[in-house]
Amino acid sequence: MSFLLNAWYVAAFAHEVRVDAPLARTLLGRPVVLYRDASQRAIVLDDRCAHRFAPLSKGRIVDGALECPYHGLRFGESGQCVHNPHGDGRVPSGAKVRTYPAIERHGAVWFWAGDPQRADASLLPSFPFVDPATTYMHDGYLLTRAHYQLSADNLLDLSHFQFLHPDTLGSEAIARGEVQSGSLGDTVWVRRVAHDEVLPPFVADGFGIPPGMRVDRWMDVRWTPPGLLSIMVGVTPAGMPREAGLIAPSAHWLTPETDRTTHYFFAFGLPREMGERGRELVRYAVDGLMKPFEQEDLPMLEAQQRNLGDSDFWALQPALLPLDAGAIRARRVMERLIAEERAANAAQEPVGDSSARGEAVTGTVSVDSLRRSSCEAA
Ligand code: FES
Ligand SMILES: [Fe+2]
Repeated sequence: MSFLLNAWYVAAFAHEVRVDAPLARTLLGRPVVLYRDASQRAIVLDDRCAHRFAPLSKGRIVDGALECPYHGLRFGESGQCVHNPHGDGRVPSGAKVRTYPAIERHGAVWFWAGDPQRADASLLPSFPFVDPATTYMHDGYLLTRAHYQLSADNLLDLSHFQFLHPDTLGSEAIARGEVQSGSLGDTVWVRRVAHDEVLPPFVADGFGIPPGMRVDRWMDVRWTPPGLLSIMVGVTPAGMPREAGLIAPSAHWLTPETDRTTHYFFAFGLPREMGERGRELVRYAVDGLMKPFEQEDLPMLEAQQRNLGDSDFWALQPALLPLDAGAIRARRVMERLIAEERAANAAQEPVGDSSARGEAVTGTVSVDSLRRSSCEAA
């Protein structure tokens, strides 16, 4: 599995991470456990006890520490064992679980899988429209049995509305609309406009458009690595400038669970100044989209993945259309970033250090030395 490690990924929505119950989740192929400590801070640890590798997520939270369900060692926010209920209670210095940098923002808990020294919160792209303090937000989640880049393709190319979602999101005006894409640094954008369109009822109702009224619908997608997208959809009476219409902003965050499965987190947000109407609209959007997402996008993505199997995407020589430009740019950015990260890691690997490459190390080790290294008192 090759993932970009030095990047922020959504681990969970903030409301999923609790002070009274651990949450198990696999992220980038790693089983992790999430919980909140006594100060409500979100903690992300490997879901593997340092003693006999029991899943910590099956344990309980006691005094802000995570207690292993097998023999009761407790681990604190640094991953260090902070309580040993056995014998004299001494804590072995090696009793430590890997912990991941985590921050809470935009109603989500984000984690950093790579070098902790590089976990800079300022690298997280901004999603100002989903901020529990200033906006009404409502979120949805789906687990997709497909590679995360197929989900990114799907969101970067909304021409599929016309064919995959004809009853909820699409119309015959989509495919004949204009589409442009470009990039700025590692950020990719795609802008699509459908002119003189009669909206499907679900979209028209959300924007307060009378049935049958002709409108222009624009859809701006921004993608940033590793799979963080915002989608702005606006509707104006046909021929009017963008400023004359309403805008529905949404966030779409893709986190690989494995190289074949993806956590898809999405959220809509509207300013709290909109009052109850704003709260209703974000619920309307998320609840209404669950059906096409779950019953149309998800089966399509999973069918694509089945057809792709173990093949490399490029090895199958996909036909390319102009509508693919944004998705291809995003794929190229990810390929470059992963290659750069791998090269940097390889450059740091000591020459001849076989253990660093995961090769078998042979030889004999005395029982005493094992005991010393694992039971050394802190
Ligand atoms: S396996 Fe966790 S305390 Fe023994
Ligand atoms: Fe879709």
